[in-house]
Amino acid sequence: MYRTHTCGELRIGDAGKKVTLAGWVQRTRKFGSMTFIDLRDRYGITQLVLDGDTDLGREYVIQAVGQVVKRESVNANLPTGEIEIKVESVNVLNKAQTPPFTIEEVSDGGEDIRAKYRYLDLRRAPLQRALALRHRLAQEARNYLDAQGFMEVETPYLIKSTPEGARDFVVPSRMNQGQFYALPQSPQTFKQLLMVAGYDRYFQIVRCFRDEDLRADRQPEFTQIDCEMSFVEQEDVLNTFEGMMRAMFHNALGVDIPNPIPRMNWYDAMDRYGSDKPDIRFGMEIHEISSLVKGHGFGVFDSADYVGAICVPGAAGYTRKQIDELTEWVKRPQVGAKGLIYIRVAEEGIKSSVDKFYTPEQLSQVAEAVGAKQGDLIFCLCGAKRKTQTQLGVLRIEMGNRLGLRDPKVFAPLWIVDFPLLEWDDETNRFYAMHHPFTAPKPEHMEYFYSNRKEDLEKVCANAYDFVLNGNELGGGSIRIHQADVQERMFEVLGISKEDADYKFGFIINAFKYGAPPHGGLAFGFDRLCALFGGQETIRDYIAFPKNNQGRDVMIDSPSLIDQEQLEELKLAIKTEK
Ligand code: AMO
Repeated sequence: MYRTHTCGELRIGDAGKKVTLAGWVQRTRKFGSMTFIDLRDRYGITQLVLDGDTDLGREYVIQAVGQVVKRESVNANLPTGEIEIKVESVNVLNKAQTPPFTIEEVSDGGEDIRAKYRYLDLRRAPLQRALALRHRLAQEARNYLDAQGFMEVETPYLIKSTPEGARDFVVPSRMNQGQFYALPQSPQTFKQLLMVAGYDRYFQIVRCFRDEDLRADRQPEFTQIDCEMSFVEQEDVLNTFEGMMRAMFHNALGVDIPNPIPRMNWYDAMDRYGSDKPDIRFGMEIHEISSLVKGHGFGVFDSADYVGAICVPGAAGYTRKQIDELTEWVKRPQVGAKGLIYIRVAEEGIKSSVDKFYTPEQLSQVAEAVGAKQGDLIFCLCGAKRKTQTQLGVLRIEMGNRLGLRDPKVFAPLWIVDFPLLEWDDETNRFYAMHHPFTAPKPEHMEYFYSNRKEDLEKVCANAYDFVLNGNELGGGSIRIHQADVQERMFEVLGISKEDADYKFGFIINAFKYGAPPHGGLAFGFDRLCALFGGQETIRDYIAFPKNNQGRDVMIDSPSLIDQEQLEELKLAIKTEK
């Protein structure tokens, strides 16, 4: 037997027992004639005491036989901290080269080196905790969905393009030369076909693939808890998944989230927070002040469509330098504002960067409109309405971060509902589906949906919803189109020709002709969910083997070239840029 106990298991009540432990040598310390070893496994750390010297190096895999004894100096930070093992014999199961970084709670290794030796980084407790939380949450989701009658069905990975708005990863087919599979951006069409097939309630914890620019909360392959239900309205879907979220928070974190989870419609979210994923852990809402500030001779405001402001509590003491730095910050291309106007509501009176255009009374009216008190600082931006609101939204989050208002231990879930169905793009001069092209227009907006006027189509709303947590989009879904003619109209509105729609999506339009039930569903981003539950916004540590920002797995060095022979078999040639 390799071991009688794990390294996280023994307590003072075990004193006197003879035990065998196995694990990795995290640290050795000499103390007089004795050697102390921290022996680690997935379950914890136990201290071993040996008489004399040892030549055991860091990360050696050993087996130690000895007696559990009470420790003289208790380590209150370790669950096993009241005992140690008085070692009688040690058996080296495998030697180890000195690892390139320390494998402890906090490592001395940089990100790149840790990514290259991911299997060593994964030995560290923070990563083990992250993956254990991921495991727990997957089990909680499965248990809940199973109890609610959802059936787990696997859908294929070698498919045809699914339109979720990113680029596809493609896989060449050897048996069908010149043709390619696409890896699923989501199982969207398949889960709808399962509804047509009568499966009623489906779920899958499933890998999705999207070739898009990477960020802290995005990976090229990521996991969804993907769900679909038949004979439901939006209310049924929201209630079902509120239940799942509540169970996951309660069972995994011991946290009880608000019941019911608040809802906000998309238009309010944009007007009040400048974002379709507002962080409602703090206020600092956006207020339109156009009518108060236009027409007083300040040209920048006078010529703007919209002027909006946020009130930053307690920031009136910001120095000129701090405000200049923030002005540069909002002018960066990532935010895109032209400039930043401020109004200080200070003890000595209201002061602003536009004092020469406004009387103190006029500025007081602005202060009142945005709810500013003495000691607050107001920031104003102007321009086209939605664009300016979005910029104010980004500034709001930045100020929330700077003022420490975004506590990762506070959870503020929210449903965003009533999304517009379509989004106009000036560059390509066409509509795009805001969620995806299978989302149904609201029944009461059908007349607009069949209109050919852009203004009418812009008014069409969908029974589409996003689940937002602390300013992050955790999930989204909708009630779907289930009639072939409505689906065909949707492709028409999106400027997709009938031939193209038939070629790409003929299978689903056809399926709708054979008795498709009304249905709807949603998908949660499981990596994001795990990270946020763990108090982080970066998902990488919650994925065992993630990619870096260039989409590379530096441990296995992928993507990589393939053999000429393989290319020939696939009838592919690599074109090199001249
Ligand atoms: P959507 O595209 O909104 O919807 O995706 C659902 C959720 O998946 C997560 N997500 C990602 N997580 C990590 N890396 C990525 N690159 C990434 N992209 C998306 C987000 C997002 O909310 N088929 C629809 C769902 C439906 O309508 O039922 C869909 O995929 O948390």
